[in-house]
This record gives sequence, C-alpha cells and structure tokens, in this order.
Amino acid sequence: MPDLGIKYLGLDLKSPVIAGSSSLTNTIEHLKAIEKAGAGAVVLKSVFEEEIYLEYAHEFEKLGPMDNNLEFLDYYDLEIRKENLKHYLQLITDAKAQLSIPVIASINCVTSQEWGFFAQKIETAGADAIELNMFLSPTNLSQTSQDNESTYFDIITRVSQKVSIPVSVKISPYFSNLGGMIRDISFSGIKGIVLFNRFYSPDIDIAKETIHGSNVLSHEYDYLLPLRWVAMMSNRVNCDLASSTGVHTWETAVKMILAGSQAVQVVSALYDKGFGFIEEINREIAQWMTIHNYEKIDNFRGKLSQENSVNPSEFERVQFMKNFGEFKTGQ
Ligand SMILES: Cc1cc2nc3c(=O)[nH]c(=O)nc-3n(C[C@H](O)[C@H](O)[C@H](O)COP(=O)(O)O)c2cc1C
Repeated sequence: MPDLGIKYLGLDLKSPVIAGSSSLTNTIEHLKAIEKAGAGAVVLKSVFEEEIYLEYAHEFEKLGPMDNNLEFLDYYDLEIRKENLKHYLQLITDAKAQLSIPVIASINCVTSQEWGFFAQKIETAGADAIELNMFLSPTNLSQTSQDNESTYFDIITRVSQKVSIPVSVKISPYFSNLGGMIRDISFSGIKGIVLFNRFYSPDIDIAKETIHGSNVLSHEYDYLLPLRWVAMMSNRVNCDLASSTGVHTWETAVKMILAGSQAVQVVSALYDKGFGFIEEINREIAQWMTIHNYEKIDNFRGKLSQENSVNPSEFERVQFMKNFGEFKTGQ
C-alpha cells in the first residue's frame, strides 16, 4: 500500500488532502466526519478581521487618545467578552481534544492593524497553524500597487512576530507581478502559500435588469489557473505551496501534486459530493500510485513542474499562442 503521508507547514499529514476553510469546517461534528473520511488536515472557517474589531470595539473606546496607537494595542491583553470569538477559540480547543489531524485556524484580513493579538489567542487555544486569508481589493484608485503589496508584508510580519506556530497565506491571483509576489512572500518567513482563494462575483440578470448572485462554488475547470501557477512557481519558492480552487476530482489532485503542490485543499467538491469525496481521492491516488510504481507522494511531487518539464515553455504564453494558432473548428 503506498504511503500518502506528507509534510505541510512542517506538520505531518497522513494525506495530502486538506478540507479547506468554509462553513463545513465550523462545527466539531463536521470536523470529526472530515477526519473520519481521511483528510490530512483541516482549515477552520475564517474569523474576519472586522469581527475582531467589532467584538473589541468597547475595549478600544476605553483607551485614551494617547493609548490609541498600534504598538500599545499589541501589548494590551484584551479580554474576550462576546460570543463569536469565544466560540472560535473553543472550537479550536475542542478540535484539538477530539481530533488527531492538524487543525489550522484561519483569519480573513485586509489591514495590518490591531487584530494581531488575536493570532496569539489562536495559538494559545491550541491551533497547529494559522492560515491568513488575505485579499486587499485593488479598487482603491488612490492606492498604488506598491502600497497594496506592502500591506501583505506588514500583515505577515506582524502576525509572524506574535506566534511561534507556522503561518501560511492564502492569496488571490490578482497581482500585477504575481510570480514576484509569490516568490517574495515565500521568502518572508511564511511556511506556506495557498494558490488561490476564489471570489464571489455578482452577475446581471438581463430580463429583470438587476444584479444577482452567481455561483458560490467553483467549477471543475477552475483548477487550470492554480495548476499553472503551482507548476511555474514550485521550484522558485522558499515554502510549501498548496493548491485551492477547482479540485473536484482525484485526477485533479494528482495533477496538482505532479505540478509541485505539497497539498490540495478541497471545498466546493465537499459541498457537491459530501465528505466521502476525501475518501475517494485517497483511495484513487493510492491506486494510481500503485499502478505508476510510486511508494510515496514525494516520489512524484513536482515531476511536471515547469523546471522539471521536458518543454518548460509549456506553461508559458508561447504555448497559448501556438494553441490558438493551430486551433481549427470541430476540434
Ligand atoms: C461556502 C464557502 C465558504 C467559504 N468560506 C471561507 C472562509 O471562511 N475562509 C476562507 O479562507 N475561504 C473560504 N472559502 C473559500 C474556500 O476555502 C476555497 O479557497 C475556495 O472555495 C476555492 O476552493 P474550491 O474550488 O475547492 O471551492 C469559502 C468557500 C465557500 C464555497
């Protein structure tokens, strides 16, 4: 039987399949079912930076104007009074008590402001790692891309200074120099980068001439974007890469690992198919490894990354031009 064990963020995982952050990872019942299905780790639903502010607003108000600066707040041990954050920390503690797989907490953040102390509380509650879900919407036209990007590094530095557990970041593909950002983040002390977060975009109903919701869940071809970037970056980074978005089949999970992913995160497919999908991926990857004579995941990880590919340009634009140039109708 092949060994599906891997290392991710320095943690030992018995499978490369991680249940990504969503409402499915928000209760202990679900977390136990996810573990039972064979997940290597679980990322809890994110706490939003705004939630942290809201719950601590009364504490901030008590501070005088001189105290109301970031450095002071960093060292001010704010008491948790309200329920949401208490529940979140309790979920971490319960998950650690009842599960044997690593539990990764998640914070959705957009600024490097006062919320950093909450990362410490997450660590104290027992989380094995923290995933920062970062997305600074590039819609503020007065902000330069440099300003925008430096906020990412401010957040990383602030959180990394506060905790000793591994920190990873989940980012979007929306950067002017995506490759450079992935590389620079990987050298910032971070232990892993998750490529990519997926965003909900509204659609337009042309009959009613109104704006309406579009699909919250990904499609199975959405995997091509993270696949390409994992393949292009996996040999150029100083941390683990995990893929997220569009892993709807076990074959896609194998492709992500061949491209260089340390682990794959699944969310939409769990909504579509249930937690049994994790079991299916593990079983089918093991069977595929047996057929291809691989004893360990490490034996084939990155085999088809850009660096290891016979034709490295295959992941670059030149192939794009070639495909379009040779495309004929009816193909
Ligand atoms: C219903 C739902 C809730 C989600 N909630 C979170 C969240 O709280 N934090 C987060 O980082 N990502 C969240 N995500 C994004 C997923 O973790 C994942 O990055 C994204 O759905 C792409 O992966 P997929 O194609 O496997 O769904 C959510 C996704 C869905 C569908």
